[in-house]
Parts: sequence; structure tokens; C-alpha cells
Amino acid sequence: MKLKELESILQDCEVFDEPKIQYEQYPTTPHLAARMLYTADTVYNDIEDRAVGDFGSGCGILSIAANILGAGYSVGFDIDPDAIRIAQENCEQFDVAVDFVNTDLIQANLERFQGKLDTIIMNPPFGTKNNKGIDMLMLKKAIDTATTSVYSLHKTSTREHIMKKAQEWGVSFEVVAEMKFDVPMMYKFHKKKNVEIAVDFLRFEKI
Ligand SMILES: C[S@@+](CC[C@H](N)C(=O)[O-])C[C@H]1O[C@@H](n2cnc3c(N)ncnc32)[C@H](O)[C@@H]1O
Repeated sequence: MKLKELESILQDCEVFDEPKIQYEQYPTTPHLAARMLYTADTVYNDIEDRAVGDFGSGCGILSIAANILGAGYSVGFDIDPDAIRIAQENCEQFDVAVDFVNTDLIQANLERFQGKLDTIIMNPPFGTKNNKGIDMLMLKKAIDTATTSVYSLHKTSTREHIMKKAQEWGVSFEVVAEMKFDVPMMYKFHKKKNVEIAVDFLRFEKI
């Protein structure tokens, strides 16, 4: 499968119908989702035949892309049952099998997934709306749960901090790509039509 083909397929993925700001629900665009998963697969061999978890799976676009690229198993985790419902509808439409777990990843005990997920991918809340630090809590949980690697999107402005944390946690850290995350006017407090945020696509590996 070519990158452009994957991006084009993902255009049909439905997004949040009533996005919830308290959970920082911003969908990853098909353009970014395709690049993230395609790179994880073709450069690092972390998707095809791997068990892939998606932390904060939202409407499922990252899990669906993993599945299309041949993931052996996919499971998405999200706090919001409405998002999971949309993700399940998307999976039906794409005819892909993904399990979903409705849970608060900050509180959840993920023991039953320990040692079972090779790769975890995520576009976490950035911790900007009353959720300060949630990005790092989710990242640490993903690193503790995955057996091999974790891919995550973070604001570029937090790069130094995350690099230090990765050292502290004993995992390798790599900036795979610098990307622009397009935030459309979705919420009442948004004043501009579109805002682009500089984000790093990061890869962590257990060493
Ligand atoms: C930026 S959105 C990304 C959604 C989706 N992965 C995507 O790429 O389009 C973040 C997601 O994290 C979920 N989320 C926020 N807080 C969470 C928590 N404590 N536990 C689990 N999921 C959470 C939100 O509901 C939302 O779906």
C-alpha cells in the first residue's frame, strides 16, 4: 500500500460529532495519521503483524490505519463512550476489526495488557485545558505497557522536557518528524478559523 493510497482511504473516517473540550478531542487529519502509521510500519517495522494499542483512540483513525497496514491485533482505549461509538462505526465501514476499551487511562490498571502490546501509538491531549500534565501521564503509561515502542505527538515546545523524561525512564527517544497539527475552529473559545501547532512525532523504544 502506498502512502497516498492510505491517506485517501482515511478521508472517509468520520470525526467527533460533538467534540468534548474537557477531553481535548481534536481529530488527527488523514494526512498526519497516514504519515505516522506509514513511517512506523515502513521505517521501523512496528505495525505489520504487531499487536498495536492506540491510547486516546477517539474516532479510531490511528487504529484503523494500523489495521489497514496489517497489524496483527489492534485495540483502542478512550475515556469517552461517544467517541468509541463513532470509532466502532468507522471500523464497520472500513471492515476492520479493532477492540475498544472504555477507560480513563490515567486511572486504569492495564495489567491485563502488560506484555501483550508491541507498539502503542497516540495523539494524546496536550494538557492545555485544565489537564496539565496529562500528556506525560499518558506517555508514561504507554511506555510502561508497550513491549517495544511508543509513538506519540507532542507540542514541539515540550521537546526538551520530554527528552529528559525519556532519559529518566530509560527509553530511547527520537524525533521522527516535525509536523504541523491543524486545529480547525471547533470550540466556542476558538477565535481564529484555523490554527497550526508545531508538533513532534516522537518514537520511544525500550532499551
Ligand atoms: C487529541 S484526541 C485524539 C483522538 C484520536 N486518537 C485521533 O488521533 O484522532 C485525544 C483523545 O484522548 C481521549 N482522552 C482524553 N483524556 C483521556 C483519558 N484520561 N483516558 C483515555 N482517553 C482520554 C479523548 O477522548 C480523545 O479521543
